[in-house]
This record gives sequence, C-alpha cells and structure tokens, in this order.
Amino acid sequence: MDYFNYNDNELFAEQVKVEDIAKQYGTPCYVYSRATLERHYKAFCDAASHHNHLVCYAVKANSNLAILNVLARLGSGFDIVSKGELARVIAAGGDTSKVVFSGVAKTHDEIAFALEHNIKCFNVESEAELERISQVAAELNVNAPISIRVNPDIDAKTHPYISTGLKENKFGIDIKIAVDVYKKAASLPNLDIKGIDFHIGSQLTEVEPFIAALKKVIALVKELASHNIKLSHVDVGGGLGVPYAQEAPPHPSQYVSKITECLAELPDVELIFEPGRAIAANAGILVTNVEYLKQNQGKHFAIVDAGMNDLLRPSLYQAWQNIIAVKPRQGKTENYDIVGPVCETGDFLGKDRDLCIEAGDLIAVRSAGAYGFTMSSNYNSRPRVAEIMVDNDQVHVIRQRETIDDLYRNECTLP
Ligand code: LLP
Repeated sequence: MDYFNYNDNELFAEQVKVEDIAKQYGTPCYVYSRATLERHYKAFCDAASHHNHLVCYAVKANSNLAILNVLARLGSGFDIVSKGELARVIAAGGDTSKVVFSGVAKTHDEIAFALEHNIKCFNVESEAELERISQVAAELNVNAPISIRVNPDIDAKTHPYISTGLKENKFGIDIKIAVDVYKKAASLPNLDIKGIDFHIGSQLTEVEPFIAALKKVIALVKELASHNIKLSHVDVGGGLGVPYAQEAPPHPSQYVSKITECLAELPDVELIFEPGRAIAANAGILVTNVEYLKQNQGKHFAIVDAGMNDLLRPSLYQAWQNIIAVKPRQGKTENYDIVGPVCETGDFLGKDRDLCIEAGDLIAVRSAGAYGFTMSSNYNSRPRVAEIMVDNDQVHVIRQRETIDDLYRNECTLP
C-alpha cells in the first residue's frame, strides 16, 4: 500500500496535488512519499519483532540523503556496496555500527574507510577478499568483522540480470566449500567471524526460494558450530519483489514470518534483512510531461520529457511499470508507446498503454522509488531531474534539478 491516490480525479502524493508539484518544480521529477517509506520499513520490523533482528536498507535502491535520513531516524541499518554509499549513510546521520558492506570488488581504500567507521560487518565475496580485509585490518591494527556470502545455488526465478544465487553468477562463495573458507578465515589474523549471508536475486515473487536457501544456510551454521565456529548473525539479503503489474509477491510481513519461523531453531542468532526495492519502489513516482503525440503508420507515440537516462528499468530489463495520468480525462483511449527524447530506439518508459491523453498532460510512472534515480545518467547531456519528498502536506526538494553547467563542471579542454 502506498500514499499516491486519486482524489476528485487528481493524483495526490499524500496531501499534495502532484500537478502542483510539477507546476512549481518542473518536470521530469521524482516524487517520493515519506509515509509510504516509513510504512514499508515498519512492515519488516513489526513482523520480525519477536526475533532479534536488524533491517539494513539496501542503499543502492535509492540513496538520496533524505531517504536515508528518514530511515535512519527509525533506527534502520544500511547495506552498502561502495565507499560512496557509506559516505552517504554518514552524511545522512546513519549509524555506521548498523552497516553491512556487500559487493564483489571492495578496494583497499574502501575497506580502510569502512574499518575507520566501525561498520557492523563485511559481507565477503571471495577468499582473495578475505585475505585483503585481514591485511588492511592488520595495517590499521584493528579486527575486521566478517561474514561469508555463500552462493546457495538456488534459482530465484527472476530476470537473469537480477538473479544472483546461481553457481553461474559472480556472487558469493560456493556453499559446498564454505566450511573450508570459514576455517581459513579463522586462521587469518585480524578477522572476527560474525555471520553468514546470502542474496539470491531481486524482485522475487515467491517465498520458497528464500526458504530453500535459508535451510541450506542453517544446516551450514550448525556444521560450523561443530567445528567450533560460532556465528552470531544470519543475513538473508534482500530481494523481496513488489507488485509492478500482475505479479503478487508475498507481503513483507508474510515473507518475514516465514523466515523467522525457519530461523526459530536458532533463537540466539540475529537476523539481518537487506531489503531495497520492497521499501522504496512504491514510495516513488516519476512525473513527466507529454510533449508531443505522434502517429507513424497507425502506431501512436506519446513523446514525454523523461527518458531512459532518467528511468532505465523499462529499457534495460523490459520492466513493466504502471503509467497513469495525473489528471485522467474522460474519453476514448488510444494505444500508446510512451517514449522519451533520447536518441535510441530502446528509449521507452512503457509500451502498448491505453491512455486518454493530450500534449501538455502530465503522466506518472509508478513504483519508481527504487532503482529509478540511482540508475539515472546524463546520457544525451540531459541534466538529472529533481527529487521531491512529500511529507503529509509539506513538499521538500531533496535534490535540485541539475543545471546545464553541472553537466560539464568537471571537464576541461586541452591547453
Ligand atoms: N543485498 C544485496 C547484496 C544486493 O545485491 C541487493 C540488490 C540487495 C540487497 C537489495 O535487493 P532488493 O531488495 O532491492 O531486491 N537494478 C535492478 C535491481 C538490482 C538489484 C541488485 N542487488 C532493478 O532495477 O530491478
């Protein structure tokens, strides 16, 4: 459930007319709802309340400082994948002792930065990384908290680009050799073994693959205990899907309950979640203006002012996101491809959408709060768009629209 609803045939973000936001701040713009974000975060915490847990919001989904700050105020932890994301968490007032650091390519500099900020744990993706973390920690004369990311070889049944738990994916360490890797970790200096983690993919619409992976991991936790390697947390990653179209993923509370049920046999082990999409996706929309309507041999196009550089998911994954009119018109609908200004055939926000629209109308792409702005670029020298957060009846600009000067601020010509 979210707080983008029609009232008197006008789309509202919480208590504010989306049209008023567009008039004041221009289009395209991302509009987020604070209440929706908070609601989704709390859904995880409430459902997990009977088990010691920590929700580490996956920063990559939407890393705007205001988003991170809203979650930090609720006590959220954070899952990061770069020094830049950790810097954002710090700038947003997040608690670094609740940060887990994922990612396959952590550099010496990133590891040192994370150690200096006393993060909760490194989610280690390879034996070579384990050695590097041990070495950097020794240089700084500290101990590094680590977890091994195991690859449980479970089919998440999601889009191949966002499936991560199969043996052909680059992520994690083969679960079959995990015991040896933990033994190696135990033998290396300056490492504290804290936990185990996995992340099998994103936009999962069923709970079964998570449970299948978790069962394998619980068996491993027990086996490790028999080797005197005791873990204090299990991190189940992120990946819970959202209903973009007809798919009906489990509600976060159902998903969390199934997981806590499964982990009930390890009551002392802290449970960590790394949700990104399930918290942020439906807390945001992308508002765009219809610039032109055009017909080519019977095919109707609505050409809008947002493109694939602003919202890449439809072009990159053929992702379907609902597109709605901000002020729906009564009348005959036409079947449109909603396309952007970028010079690529793949530049579309949606195809075959039945809408009754005219040039100058505003439309909104729903479920754009996750992997929307964070995947945007300046392709075609298009300044990145403004981000706005609505909090009840208040509107806050949380990222200014980039200017033309911003486009080449860091460039120079040859002397
Ligand atoms: N933890 C790890 C280690 C991850 O790699 C990811 C996402 C998450 C947590 C958060 O997953 P979520 O709960 O958001 O599914 N750009 C793609 C999604 C890529 C996800 C990458 N990893 C998209 O737009 O669909």
